[in-house]
Amino acid sequence: MTDEANPVAVRVRAPGKVNLQLAVGELQEDGYHELATAFQALSLIEEITATSAEGISLSVSGTVDVAGVPLDESNLAYRAALLLRERTGVTDGVHLNIHKGVPVAGGMGGGSADAAATLVACDALWATNLSSAELHTLAAELGADVPFSLHGGTAMGTGRGDELSPMLSQGRFDWVLVTNDEGLSTPRVYGELDAIRQRLRADLPVVPAQPHLGADLFHALRAGDPVRLADALHNDLQAAALSLRPELAVVIDLGVREGALAGIVSGSGPTVALLCADAESALEVHVSMTAAGYNSFRAHGPVAGARIVSAV
Ligand code: C5P
Repeated sequence: MTDEANPVAVRVRAPGKVNLQLAVGELQEDGYHELATAFQALSLIEEITATSAEGISLSVSGTVDVAGVPLDESNLAYRAALLLRERTGVTDGVHLNIHKGVPVAGGMGGGSADAAATLVACDALWATNLSSAELHTLAAELGADVPFSLHGGTAMGTGRGDELSPMLSQGRFDWVLVTNDEGLSTPRVYGELDAIRQRLRADLPVVPAQPHLGADLFHALRAGDPVRLADALHNDLQAAALSLRPELAVVIDLGVREGALAGIVSGSGPTVALLCADAESALEVHVSMTAAGYNSFRAHGPVAGARIVSAV
């Protein structure tokens, strides 16, 4: 019989994301950059099943290639379970099965979604009953993008990207995500951006601007207008990702030639996100990219944040 107060297995779904705008400020003393970003949660979903067990252990499956996913303490889901245990004094264990729907190391927040889903799942499994504010605090300690996966929808992120405020958005936006066999390390991409900026500054000293989002983005989202959103897409990390992987520019150009409204590197890459006019156009772009030999997925946004789908 199901005991709702003391479940033995909890299943949670959490979304990946695309950054609609990502403005990167200066490198801070803590090793992070000040950001202004707009996240949209996408229908590429990570599903975590947390089961009562001795100690903490992981297994991984998925609809994407999961070969590179670590099963030890370096996995963000493992660290999330450990952090929740440390902070609440719980001594119970958990087995976490991660079913991945977000491309691995693709700049789409899959690892962050695993961490967010694990916090929600273990909080229910261990009956620690943290408030959303407490979960948000733990999420931000695990990584800059983790709070957004808890939150979902559309949100502005400032600070490291973890200080969230919801943004108004109407309707649905359709995307094609083109993945890359080899992931890109986030710190490496930020480091490349710093190096590019250093070189530019040697020629022309500039006072760095405070990162901010453009008004065009707010208007496009409020209007639910993909054409205006396509014009508003911007990612400061794109120059760095293209410098490390020049071939990504070819993917963006091809996507637009095949009918996408615009293409952008997603977060720190290497996934390319192609915004399409509607679901029908996304299907055509997806078919063309597949025919050209690329691995691509369709998704739409915004969708909800981390949610329990069953607790038995
Ligand atoms: O917080 P998260 O683990 O996702 O960040 C990974 C790395 O990305 C950081 O160690 C840092 O090098 C870089 N980063 C940054 N500024 C941010 C977010 C991430 O420099 N606001």
